[in-house]
This record gives sequence, C-alpha cells and structure tokens, in this order.
Amino acid sequence: MKKKNKLGSSISSIEGTWKFDNNVAKVFDKHVNQSIPHYHEIQNYIASLSEWFMKDNTTIHDLGCSTGETIKKIINLNVTNNYKIIGYDTSRKMLDLAKKKLSNKKKNIQFKCVDVLKIKKFGKSNLFISILLFPFLNYNERKKIFKKIYNSLETGGAFICVEKIRSNSSDFEDIFNQIYFDFKLKKNLTEKEILKKAKSLRSSMNLYTEKKTLQLVKESKFKNCEVFFKCFNFLGYIAIK
Ligand SMILES: C[S@@+](CC[C@H](N)C(=O)[O-])C[C@H]1O[C@@H](n2cnc3c(N)ncnc32)[C@H](O)[C@@H]1O
Repeated sequence: MKKKNKLGSSISSIEGTWKFDNNVAKVFDKHVNQSIPHYHEIQNYIASLSEWFMKDNTTIHDLGCSTGETIKKIINLNVTNNYKIIGYDTSRKMLDLAKKKLSNKKKNIQFKCVDVLKIKKFGKSNLFISILLFPFLNYNERKKIFKKIYNSLETGGAFICVEKIRSNSSDFEDIFNQIYFDFKLKKNLTEKEILKKAKSLRSSMNLYTEKKTLQLVKESKFKNCEVFFKCFNFLGYIAIK
C-alpha cells in the first residue's frame, strides 16, 4: 500500500478553488518540488540566466515570488554589482516565510504583498522573473502585465518566465498529463491527493499552447525570445527588449 504523505494530504485537504493560503504557504517549498518536474533545476537555470542582466544599480522584479526561493538562488550567485530585488505576492504568509529565509542576506530585498494586476507601473529595471504565476492569469491580464513589464525594462533587459502550457494536440495533452500524474505518484503523492489537487485547480488555471504563449511575447514587442526549458507541459522562456 502507498505510504500516506503528510505534506500532500495537508495540501489536498483544500477543497474548491485552489488558493495559495497559509496552509499551502507553510509546506510550499516541499510541495512544489513534489508537484513540478525539475523545479529546483528550473530555479537554478533562472538564477544562472539572471547573471547576464544584473547590471549595477538595477532593480530585479520577481512576480509571484512565494517563499523567495528563486530570489535566494539569485543572491547566492554572489554578483558584486549593486542591485535591488523586489518580490511580489498576494500571500502574506509566503512573504513572511521569504523574509525569514532571507533575513541573513545582506542585500537590498523588498517584499510587496500586492496583486501584480493592480500595479500601475513598475520602476525602471533590467530584469523581471516569474515562475508559474502566469497560469493563474487570463489572456487579457497577461497582455496588460506584459505591456507594463516591457515599458519598465531598459533596452536589452530581460523577462524570464516559466509557464504551464497546453499541448498542441489532444493526443499529447492526454499522454503528458498522465506522465505528470505518474511523476507525482513517484514523488509519494497518493492518487487521492493528486485528484483533489487537480479538482481544486479546475477554475484557477488559464493555460495556452506554446504557440499562443509565445505569440503574446512577440505581440508585446520583445525583440528576441528563446525557449530555455521544456518538459512535457512546462515551458521556460527568456525574452529580451
Ligand atoms: C506557483 S507559485 C510561484 C512560485 C515561485 N515563483 C517560486 O519561484 O518558487 C505562484 C505564486 O503566485 C502568487 N500569486 C498568484 N496570483 C497572484 C497575483 N495576481 N499577484 C501576485 N501574486 C500572485 C501566489 O500567491 C503564489 O505564491
């Protein structure tokens, strides 16, 4: 019989619409590694890519920063330039955990408990990052945010983003989703937990094909865009102004 996983059961006990609430925040770092393939590596890749855009005196914006794990990896690069990082999230608990995690880092880090959709304008920047926030935004919301990111970026600045996408065909969507469930089972989540999470996400996610996702980057006038990560229905890309 499959071993009951305490972490997973706490997450999947949340019924209805998925929320990044206090229960989720407390177990987020472990849960996300059980739920997303190559999560640590994705964060490491983003930190590595960031190094090229951490200009002196720039501000880095992390949209949907959760517990600040990616910010920690960026700081651990030990880039000596002066820079500031602002992490945005709607979950106060996630940000409290991020602050605690990063309290001994002597860097200029700020956290803002805010809905990114409500931000009128970001300050000038050479780098935006966002891991898996966009699946929770619809197409129009994405469009508006992309425009604000583009307007805030200096020429040559980058937007590094990781998304969950839909496959181009129903055949692949079915295969990839089943492989995704296999992945979660291998990470010790139970069938019941996996199904509950899938149910809770039904009304929360807005997923588009790779083509439509990247089309928006193009329409937002970014000069160059390159995919740096793809694993089944997860996609990472970097766009440069
Ligand atoms: C999958 S997690 C992101 C993980 C994180 N980027 C990392 O590197 O580990 C999505 C996060 O986005 C936040 N979020 C969702 N919608 C948001 C919004 N409209 N504005 C700000 N944060 C939002 C959630 O609270 C959650 O912490």
